[in-house]
Amino acid sequence: MKWKQLLIFCLSTLHFVASDPHCGYEACPKIDKEVLTVHLVPHTHDDVGWVKTVDEYFFGTKDQRPSLSVKTILESVIEQLQIDPGRKFIWVETAFFWKWWSSQQNDTLKDVVKKLVSGGQLEFTGGAWSMNDEAVTHYQSTIDQFTWGFRRLSDIFGDCGRPHVGWQIDPFGHSRETASLMAQIGFDGLFFGRLDKDDKKNRMDHKSMEMIWRGSNNLGEDGDLFTGVLYNQYSPPRGFCFDVWCSDYISDEPGNSNFKEKIASFVQLAKEQSDKYLSKNIMWTMGMDFHYMIAGKWYNNMDTLIKHVNSISNETGIVAVYSTPSCYLQALHNSSLAWPTKDDDFFPYASEPDAYWTGFFTSRPNLKRFERTGNNLLQVCKQLHVLAGSTETDGLNSLREAMGVVQHHDAITGTEKQHVAEDYAAILNKALVQCDSLTSEFLNKLSRKREKEPSLVLFERCPLLNMSDCAVSENETTFVVKIFNPLARRVSKFVRLPVTGPEHSVIDLSSGKKLDIQYVPIMDEVKKIPVGKGKALFELVFEASELPPVGFKSFHVTKTGRQELLRKLNNSEREIGNEFVKVSFDDRSNLISGYDDAGFQGTRQASGAYIFRPGKNQPFKVSNEPTKISIHKGPLVQEVHQTFSPWASQVVRVYRGQKHVEIDWLVGPIPTDGGFGKEVISKISTNLKTNGEFTTDSNSREYLRRRRNVRETWTANIKEPVAGNYYPVTSAISMQDEISTVAILTDRAQGGASIEDGSLELMLHRRLVEDDGFGVEKVLDEQQMGVGMVARGRHILLFAPVDSNVTARQRDLVQREMVLEPTLYFAPTNLTAQEWAEKYQVEFSGIKTALPENVNLLTMEPWRGNSVLLRLENAFEKKEDQFPVKVSLTDLFEAEVASVDEMMLGANQKVCDSQRFKWQAQFGGIRDREGPARNTFGSSNNFEIVLYPMQIRTFVVSLKTTSV
Ligand SMILES: *[C@@H]1O[C@H](CO)[C@@H](O)[C@H](O)[C@H]1NC(C)=O
Ligand SMILES: *[C@@H]1O[C@H](CO)[C@@H](O)[C@H](O)[C@H]1NC(C)=O
Ligand SMILES: *[C@@H]1O[C@H](CO)[C@@H](O)[C@H](O)[C@H]1NC(C)=O
Ligand SMILES: *[C@@H]1O[C@H](CO)[C@@H](O)[C@H](O)[C@H]1NC(C)=O
Ligand SMILES: [Zn+2]
Repeated sequence: MKWKQLLIFCLSTLHFVASDPHCGYEACPKIDKEVLTVHLVPHTHDDVGWVKTVDEYFFGTKDQRPSLSVKTILESVIEQLQIDPGRKFIWVETAFFWKWWSSQQNDTLKDVVKKLVSGGQLEFTGGAWSMNDEAVTHYQSTIDQFTWGFRRLSDIFGDCGRPHVGWQIDPFGHSRETASLMAQIGFDGLFFGRLDKDDKKNRMDHKSMEMIWRGSNNLGEDGDLFTGVLYNQYSPPRGFCFDVWCSDYISDEPGNSNFKEKIASFVQLAKEQSDKYLSKNIMWTMGMDFHYMIAGKWYNNMDTLIKHVNSISNETGIVAVYSTPSCYLQALHNSSLAWPTKDDDFFPYASEPDAYWTGFFTSRPNLKRFERTGNNLLQVCKQLHVLAGSTETDGLNSLREAMGVVQHHDAITGTEKQHVAEDYAAILNKALVQCDSLTSEFLNKLSRKREKEPSLVLFERCPLLNMSDCAVSENETTFVVKIFNPLARRVSKFVRLPVTGPEHSVIDLSSGKKLDIQYVPIMDEVKKIPVGKGKALFELVFEASELPPVGFKSFHVTKTGRQELLRKLNNSEREIGNEFVKVSFDDRSNLISGYDDAGFQGTRQASGAYIFRPGKNQPFKVSNEPTKISIHKGPLVQEVHQTFSPWASQVVRVYRGQKHVEIDWLVGPIPTDGGFGKEVISKISTNLKTNGEFTTDSNSREYLRRRRNVRETWTANIKEPVAGNYYPVTSAISMQDEISTVAILTDRAQGGASIEDGSLELMLHRRLVEDDGFGVEKVLDEQQMGVGMVARGRHILLFAPVDSNVTARQRDLVQREMVLEPTLYFAPTNLTAQEWAEKYQVEFSGIKTALPENVNLLTMEPWRGNSVLLRLENAFEKKEDQFPVKVSLTDLFEAEVASVDEMMLGANQKVCDSQRFKWQAQFGGIRDREGPARNTFGSSNNFEIVLYPMQIRTFVVSLKTTSV
């Protein structure tokens, strides 16, 4: 019964699509299967910031004519498309399109654009907010920025605004997870431009430029994506660049005629390219960076080209058509060929034998961390909108957009100019401030005991907590910390508050109990961070235990006026730890010398060090002298503070009851004396026998095996033994032998490698004195207050027996420690703990039932009207937990669920409307490619859904009343 209703509903949507016959695949040119068809794809690659800021690109800058802008490109293309209905264009970055559309007052022009889109002349391709990087992005943010781009497009254009293919023509290498996400979005294919030069050569030789990419080890065909490598990266072939920036033209005017030579050259180039591809179709990317400012130049030349090519097609067997990537893809699909497959990813990317694009995995570490914090707070802001029943989303939209911009392949990557990097940080900060004030308002609302009671507490975040700097905790005698947990399960957190003296008492307002506390001195190196203003000398540590799912708990902190005596330790105790782990330090070098896990028989040899690489490959220890250390032990945490040099230090700590070690690293200002830059790495060496193998995550989701000096699909000859063996680490790198596993988890994207057996290294920070010559024309030399930028961050170090399901533990820690950490909100008060607890709600959970540990609440955000967009994800891979898990949506919401629509991952199409192209593999059948099932659900079974390993399911949920 339910299933029937679902089908009928879907049919009616399909009918709506069918009544508009001219967009999407229906608008494609008819292809003759007997001839070689050259698909001319007019496009412009418009970076959402790079050597200029987003706005400088959009509006044009002072130093250029204002007509040179993305705005001009759009307007010029719109004008040219109207001249001939055969002309086509694709638009990729919704950030720019939305900027134009939302500032456009002219409804006549808007109607023209709607007609161009519904007629299939203007087609959105990719369609995310920006063309995101794939190495250093987190999958949650990739999903979000696709969702928000799609949302704007479908609000304006309906289903004709729904993109069909991915278009990642410029990112510097390609991740398998991105392919999987794009498959789950419902894309029929993906095209990209950059891959290792040897890989490309090999693929051209074997006609494997186009393939079926197996995006997931868990999702079967739901994660498979047809993927094509573009022949010319994304430029036009030589001699066919018709922009105002190029000097090529084709003319049949008497006196200036060159069309005969041009057509001859066209035929030759088309045949050369066709030689490398399987089908009788090839694509020519007709455009480049910021092309089409004067679009008529392109179109007039292409008109002439098409006319002459097609007039002699009887002789040549070649035709040229205006096309789009989706039309090209449809032609491939109609050719009924079988395609090669691909299981690994496209990292690292080398454009020359000595040019590995692996430094950007680490470049601008503070921007990379700021982005990750942005995601954390975006999820909090979204959740609180839903919990507080707010349907006003302007403030939230700013953060959605800012996060979309920062995903761009020259933003989070750190490959932009300095002033552009600062602009990204400013855009993100401005949006965070807006969301902070909403968050404060919603926390207020949720803290009221009675509906009408005014509550005027201002809850503030301390954005500089990572510099041990927070005005409230330092200055105020009494304040409340409200801690919000965005995860859908209970977690505990050790809280660290910067304070000026050891004289506090902390009360858990839920229980009224006084908590154990501990003071740890703040390292001098932290106090010396150039921009720091904090005057704290200690961090006050306490454990905020059992934070409710999607909710908060509150703690009352007050200065007692009694200074506590701090126990002095002598440095001869060379070991810290608890009942689970022990870390020992060498008494001469002061480095980590051993790691003992209760799971092991005895100690594994381990050492940790800071190393930098000047120039190419010779590493140097940051300090060869014994480093300075101090040891601090108390009931909650044991720490060793190590100083390696005036610009490199770290804290190694073990908290009570925890089975892992935390490393708090601090690097900078990196000196550039001696005229060379430095890349600072943190390296751990062990006696594990790893045979060159290690594992990295792909965008923080599935794990991929790596092998030193090996590429899975071609015989590699790697001339750069270090740079050529670096891989992107979004959240985890690990290695194992027959006995143990060692993993390092990161709080931001970093480059990582295992250059020697038994070792793992992560690049923390880099400061250079020479440009790499790839277009930015500016040295990566980040500064603050006139000196090199300081970066501080955290690693989690895990040792475990090899068969202990350690990757499941890694995922849990990454989620609650690194990606969706509980956030602290501060409010000064005059109230005593008891008074506060009487007056305000001190504990709150926004969901009715906590989700099991293997289910992530990936999205909970306000959607259209008062519906909620909800994504649930099975957190584990098959090998971690092969069993499907059931969740009932009615258990989640306090309010009654009225209806639920299941959507594709990008939330712009119902699952039952999706009919992705099916592709035949050349050598099928090795693995079962069935996708995981999707059960039907409805009010009769409490909207109970089943999630298979790694499956994400997306729903638009309508509630009968809004909660709270
Ligand atoms: C709107 O745009 C159209 C097309 O560009 C133009 O002809 C018309 O004059 C504009 N109208 C206004 C009110 O600006
Ligand atoms: C091309 O060949 C077809 C069939 O042989 C013929 O009908 C058509 O007129 C020819 N076109 C041109 C332009 O010569
Ligand atoms: C609060 O502390 C900050 C630094 O932590 C200091 O700059 C500021 O002046 C203090 N404000 C008050 C009101 O004491
Ligand atoms: C791995 O750990 C997870 C989380 O604790 C658990 O749900 C799962 O059952 C474990 N799997 C195996 C194979 O032990
Ligand atoms: Zn680009």
